[in-house]
Amino acid sequence: MYRFILSSLYCTSLLALIASLPLLAKETPKAYAQCIACHGENGEGNAALSSPAIAGLSEQYLSRQLKNYASGKRGYESADSYGQQMAAISKSLDLNKDVPELAKYIATLPKPTIEQKVSGDLKNGHRYYHAKCGACHGGQGQGNSSFKAPKLAGQHFDYLARQMQNFSQGMRGKHPDDKYGRQMAMMARTVSDKELADILFFISQQ
Ligand code: HEC
Ligand code: HEC
Repeated sequence: MYRFILSSLYCTSLLALIASLPLLAKETPKAYAQCIACHGENGEGNAALSSPAIAGLSEQYLSRQLKNYASGKRGYESADSYGQQMAAISKSLDLNKDVPELAKYIATLPKPTIEQKVSGDLKNGHRYYHAKCGACHGGQGQGNSSFKAPKLAGQHFDYLARQMQNFSQGMRGKHPDDKYGRQMAMMARTVSDKELADILFFISQQ
């Protein structure tokens, strides 16, 4: 009987230990300290610094972007001052240690609530979004990892608009080895300014 109680106690504490493992994994990696000034403690971004929200983007997307900046697949044009800022920071990271740790951690941060004033035609935005973007980015802009397409919902409006411009002007997605960026650059060129304003408004309402 005692043996039974002891072994079930042992099992319970083992279970408790296993259950606490995800909490351990959530500990803030050291390298995140250098991100806070621009992206905030909770990864909410900072509109005044043009730095995007990064909280809750997928681990796979975060890791790909940090590596893209570091290898010159993103932030390669001198006219892209924000991309260049981020490229300099990424080059200082240890790609085999910091990048996986950061990507894993940032992906677990909850979706931030960003207050922003935007306007547009929701009905048109809905229509254009579903015709041109939803197949890859998901019906509510939640992202779709099978297509390597990131979450757009919850992102700063100005940042999304700037990325669309970067894609269509060759400041992002031009590098021959940036397969996913090139895909998106092709898409960006099919959208008129008027359509984009409504699409971004639709995304901001998700
Ligand atoms: C000096 C300010 C600054 C610091 C510090 C900084 N960032 Fe950034 N980050 C930016 C800006 C600005 C952009 C947008 C760049 C662009 O337009 O390509 C950005 C973009 C990103 C993106 C791309 C987001 C997306 O949706 O594609 C990721 C990921 C990112 N930063 C992660 C980090 C991490 C991790 C750190 C810390 C190691 C960090 N940043 C430190 C300013 C900063
Ligand atoms: C064929 C699939 C596909 C379609 C359709 C598509 N996208 Fe994308 N999009 C992607 C992929 C893949 C990426 C990631 C590119 C990378 O890795 O740099 C991306 C990235 C983006 C980004 C950058 C996000 C960030 O955090 O930096 C924006 C903004 C975006 N897409 C908006 C749109 C909009 C708006 C539409 C519709 C007009 C659209 N996309 C249609 C696949 C697609």
